[in-house]
Amino acid sequence: PFASPFLAGARWPHASPTLTRPHPPAPPAVECWAISYPQAVNCSWAAEPEPLLETDYITTYRHGVWGARGSGECVRTGPHSCSFGDIQMFSLIPYVLNVTAVNPLGAASRLLPFLVEDIIKPDPPEDLRVLPIPGETKKLLLEWSPPGSWPFPEYFPLKYCIRYARDEGSSPQTIGPYEQTSFTLTGLRPGTLHHVQVAAKDFTDYGEFSAWSRPASGMPWTQP
Ligand SMILES: *[C@@H]1O[C@H](CO)[C@@H](O)[C@H](O)[C@H]1NC(C)=O
Ligand SMILES: *[C@@H]1O[C@H](CO)[C@@H](O)[C@H](O)[C@H]1NC(C)=O
Repeated sequence: PFASPFLAGARWPHASPTLTRPHPPAPPAVECWAISYPQAVNCSWAAEPEPLLETDYITTYRHGVWGARGSGECVRTGPHSCSFGDIQMFSLIPYVLNVTAVNPLGAASRLLPFLVEDIIKPDPPEDLRVLPIPGETKKLLLEWSPPGSWPFPEYFPLKYCIRYARDEGSSPQTIGPYEQTSFTLTGLRPGTLHHVQVAAKDFTDYGEFSAWSRPASGMPWTQP
């Protein structure tokens, strides 16, 4: 459901890329995620196909029919990204992002409707540490921090899944979710390096899990 008067003529059929002549833009491919719920929605887009002419973008959002519940600019955060705030939580009326690509030959809009709670996706957890516990040859202590972009972990807690594997040979195991930002792995093989990653999701289960964090590694305590 996008409003593009130019879509049908956006490409030269059967032409190889080098023979393609300048054309009006196609509607950009847009995605939006609430990585800083409930403060802001972050959106980004890609031009498809790669435009031959210099292309500008107009980015707006509205909430409710004709923006009855609010509308405004999605403020640019980069050449192909924007964000907007002032989010109304738990609204059952979708927000609609409008990204309009404009070049000298024309314009094309992509409209992306969404409910904010459906697109919650935190950034990955940060500062993951894998620590030996003195005297414990089969355990590792894990500690991490919520993503820095998640504004209010006290009021909107996250839950976490842990993925870990022995250095050689074993397939990763995933456990969780857990509500705290530390965990003790038990029953590990002594004297073996283990690799760990953590992912975060909104505590109330809205939206999606983050990507996995950067891996961290450690070995259970060994007799000095
Ligand atoms: C998300 O939006 C905020 C502003 O609301 C901005 O500071 C931040 O850089 C954006 N993040 C990304 C990954 O674009
Ligand atoms: C999307 O934004 C463009 C540029 O501001 C505007 O011309 C167009 O009418 C908008 N489309 C809708 C459906 O609001």
